[in-house]
Amino acid sequence: MRRYLMAGNWKMHKTIAEAVELATAVRAGLETSPPHLDVVVCPPFTALQAVAQVLKGSRIALGAQDTHWENQGAYTGEVSPVMLRDVGCTFVILGHSERRQLFGETDDDVGDKARAAVAHGLTPLICVGETLLERESGRTLGVVERQVEQALRHLGATEASRIVISYEPVWAIGTGHAATPEQAQVVQAFIRKLVATSHGDSVAAPLRVLYGGSVKPDNIGALMAQSDIDGALVGGACLQARSFLDIIHFPGA
Ligand code: 13P
Repeated sequence: MRRYLMAGNWKMHKTIAEAVELATAVRAGLETSPPHLDVVVCPPFTALQAVAQVLKGSRIALGAQDTHWENQGAYTGEVSPVMLRDVGCTFVILGHSERRQLFGETDDDVGDKARAAVAHGLTPLICVGETLLERESGRTLGVVERQVEQALRHLGATEASRIVISYEPVWAIGTGHAATPEQAQVVQAFIRKLVATSHGDSVAAPLRVLYGGSVKPDNIGALMAQSDIDGALVGGACLQARSFLDIIHFPGA
């Protein structure tokens, strides 16, 4: 019932020329892919316009990696949701752990950004997840609960039905140690339950909950076999067309 979503977070990688090359190869590799699956790529801001041109007329959506919550103003270094729509984005990653940990992004910020993104017709890919310390001290579900509640606190049911949540345990990002399918399933089912409680079953049942953290072609099949994993947010493995395409065309896709 839920359409799978495979998203590539390019992080701070690729010049414009490199981005065009990668997007072109991904597009070419998707000509014959299963239609029940959505794909989005999230290049750095500087490559959005060029990648938008490459993706025109394709089924691949364009996403940014962050947004400010205001439409415009004196916010040096920031980019607004209006600008992201203008360049052709329909998705935006919010609350990535790298933004939370390295750039001081708060739960509050993520909530404001989610509200602004939805108001402008962008689908927020809201990232949540615990650190290793939090997991080892038994706080995983508490941390995720706080992050989800804060991220969705300005959204009514209609707005919340336009979001995607990505569970990305911080200890699994870029480490080569993905969560086991069972570990991810526990948290992802919990996320769906939280949303059911706060926004109702009619929002939670169709909600897409992605998994992110060391997703590779050889572990995606087992992850996708879990009932509450509806896709993946891929970092390192999306920087090569071949491995991103292998993930999209996972066994059982
Ligand atoms: P890796 O796939 O490189 O672990 O990164 C995951 C991620 O942070 C996606 O947003």
